Amino acid sequence: MIRTIEWTDEGVVMIDQRLLPTQEIYNTYTTVEGVAEAIRSMVIRGAPAIGVATAMGLALGVKNLTSGEDLESEWQKICETIRVTRPTARNLFWAIERMDRVFRAHSGSLAQVQDALVREAQEMHGEDIEINRRIGRHGQRLLSQGSTVLTHCNAGALATAGYGTALGVIRAAVEAGKGIQVFADETRPFLQGARLTSWEMVRENIPCTLITDNMAGYFMQSGRIQAVVVGADRIAANGDIANKIGTYGVAVLAKEHGIPFYVAAPLSTIDLGTPTGAQIPIEQRDIAEITQMAGQDLAPDTVQVANPAFDVTPNRLVAGIITEEGVARAPYVESLAGLYRIASERSGN
Ligand code: MRU
Repeated sequence: MIRTIEWTDEGVVMIDQRLLPTQEIYNTYTTVEGVAEAIRSMVIRGAPAIGVATAMGLALGVKNLTSGEDLESEWQKICETIRVTRPTARNLFWAIERMDRVFRAHSGSLAQVQDALVREAQEMHGEDIEINRRIGRHGQRLLSQGSTVLTHCNAGALATAGYGTALGVIRAAVEAGKGIQVFADETRPFLQGARLTSWEMVRENIPCTLITDNMAGYFMQSGRIQAVVVGADRIAANGDIANKIGTYGVAVLAKEHGIPFYVAAPLSTIDLGTPTGAQIPIEQRDIAEITQMAGQDLAPDTVQVANPAFDVTPNRLVAGIITEEGVARAPYVESLAGLYRIASERSGN
């Protein structure tokens, strides 16, 4: 299995996703500042992977403290270091909230808090892989034998602790013997589809055709695509979905061609505190991601450039939201809240 992120005795080890597919380099981080920078600069990316990295970064920050004095204000600083890195992925904030509950439950001695936070972060890593496998089992039932599935960005093993959400659904369908083929949008400007999704698919011999983003309509119109499955960075309570820029266009095209558009995500990506997509903060990234490629200028340096990293797909375009507790269908306000209830009954909270 692809090793996206791991807690080791030496520190937090992550594959540097900026260098894929040409180099497989693992970096080791020993401070919360290092992990925050890795998240900001996209060494690690994808909402669930960002969640696990957040938890490990917070655990590292507290592990590095030598005295329990001012523990509360040190903890606030550590959380803030990561909180400001990327605004859209819900999992980052979910992980801070979960680690904060553990911090508050173990404020007896510094050693106790340190142990508890490290254990929690490791648990979240294992849980994420398990959750993705459950998403895969629910989602694969929606894909029929021999179908071709379009995906956008990378919602694979690299975007999670392992296995993936959208690519987890595809992996589970392949494991069920369904003969699935994948079309991967290259995903301008950061090229997660070209560099990461197609790398994952090629490694596992899952048939994959890489296309540029503006080809999706052509292949839908010519009957080549039977389903779309994407991941999500944040899902509002009403089922509006923030995902990688370009997802909205894919969803509109899918609607026009009568192709089901599915979103695969863990419950930790669903933000019941955000009523609709209009309240989801959209990250604006460095314009150099658009104006340059491999150090080469692609545009005049005085042109105005916009680089929103995500867009919001309205719930009316979403055929189903595939979670570890099952597939939510419209109306999402009820179905998403219902899945949350099932999950909390299961965990006894
Ligand atoms: O900017 P990125 O690469 O972090 O964006 C990632 C995505 O948009 C993914 O589709 C999303 O996080 C789901 S990952 C399982």
